[in-house]
Amino acid sequence: MAKAKLILENKEYEFPIMEGTEGEKGIDINDLYTRTGHITLDNGFQNTGSCASAITFIDGDKGILRYRGIDVAELAEKSSFIETAYLIIYGKLPTVEERRTFSTLLTENSMLHEDMIQYFVGMPPNAHPMAILSTMVNALAIFYPHSFDEDFEEGDVSAFNLIVARLISKIRTIAAFSYKKSIGEPYVYPRPDLKYCMNFLNMMFSSPVKPYEFDDEAEKILNMLLILHADHEQNCSTSTVRLVGSSKVNLYSSVCAGICALWGPLHGGANQEVIEMLEGIHKQGLKVSDIIEKSKKKESNFRLHGFGHRVYKNFDPRAIILKRVSREFLEKRNITDPLLNIALELEEAVLKDDYFIERKLYPNVDFYSGIIYRELGIPVDMFTVMFAIGRMPGWIAQWKEMHDTKPFKIGRPRQIYIGPTKKSYS
Ligand code: SDX
Repeated sequence: MAKAKLILENKEYEFPIMEGTEGEKGIDINDLYTRTGHITLDNGFQNTGSCASAITFIDGDKGILRYRGIDVAELAEKSSFIETAYLIIYGKLPTVEERRTFSTLLTENSMLHEDMIQYFVGMPPNAHPMAILSTMVNALAIFYPHSFDEDFEEGDVSAFNLIVARLISKIRTIAAFSYKKSIGEPYVYPRPDLKYCMNFLNMMFSSPVKPYEFDDEAEKILNMLLILHADHEQNCSTSTVRLVGSSKVNLYSSVCAGICALWGPLHGGANQEVIEMLEGIHKQGLKVSDIIEKSKKKESNFRLHGFGHRVYKNFDPRAIILKRVSREFLEKRNITDPLLNIALELEEAVLKDDYFIERKLYPNVDFYSGIIYRELGIPVDMFTVMFAIGRMPGWIAQWKEMHDTKPFKIGRPRQIYIGPTKKSYS
């Protein structure tokens, strides 16, 4: 095995180098502190791996994204969200029988406990859907308590499968119910005869006076959107789920923490920020060039939402797919969306701008997704909720991989203290 040498205070240390299946290399410093009395410092964990994982592979320089080895573009074209969720969580595509069993479990667990629905009564109609989502997902720990370990005896995955089904199925119902609550319409319950995405669209847009007209194109594009968001290795919210889960708290509460992290405008909240930015440019007749110049000035505290990524220093493969699909979707419906035209103009200008070229800033997954959500009729403040629905399989899979890692370790980073030295009280 290759080794790294470290010379500290005239003493030489060797550390093994771990190489992944795709050639990624990491210096294993698991015993750095005990051997050297030194820790590492890495603001934002830009150079630090938290785990070895077999779920998702990203090559940021080549713009590659694969779930369990399968390219995301192939899954987006050929798979469904539920089949991809199964792949990510269980490590393989389901057989016909496994698919049927999983689908039945999702259907059986698609409703909310009637007492849980009462939670909506006290919520203000303008409550942000992400605040509602995190509240209601954690409430699952009230109605369906399970502990980190006792339900997952070796080999007995039935308890785990039930928790998986509850999270994937009920998050969709919670999202739809929060929308109905915000518009003062009665809840539309999930239907056992509808597949995952059509069920969601029906719960969102059906009403007693106007049943939802099933739209196969919308169902297809929603499956693709959720597939593209399903996992993304150790991003901020997934790392949060792993870290919170490492205290041995239940999966519902770990995912709730992930939802809160995703809400931030630097992360999943960016898809809402992008549309609000594009709407602002359109409504105020702003010039794209002015917006770009403003985003380059540190003092403006304004960033071009939907651009840049910690890992991708080339195009985010998801953005490439979403750019193509958003145009096709609107063209098929003979819709000219001014926001799409502004987005295309913005991207073209940014890709020619030295500031962005030097920093390798490209459109990310959040830049075009909102254009499609808007056309589907999803309200802007629910865009990050849609991201969370898509990311649910990834959070679950990463939590389970952390749960099964031996030796099990609680996540507890170190620090370098820079505060006042010892002084007396008086
Ligand atoms: C997601 O990690 C994941 O995998 C996340 C995600 C997933 O699927 O889970 O892919 C989903 O969160 C996508 C990212 C959505 N966020 C945004 O679109 C918000 C806008 N983007 C940025 O804030 C930023 O690019 C981040 C947060 C995405 C990445 O930040 P980094 O890696 O810490 O980079 P940085 O802030 O150090 O920026 C490097 C330079 C800086 O300039 P200098 O100090 O070198 O002069 O690039 C500049 C930044 O100011 N910069 C931008 C910019 N993004 C970075 N300048 C203007 N506009 C931007 N969008």
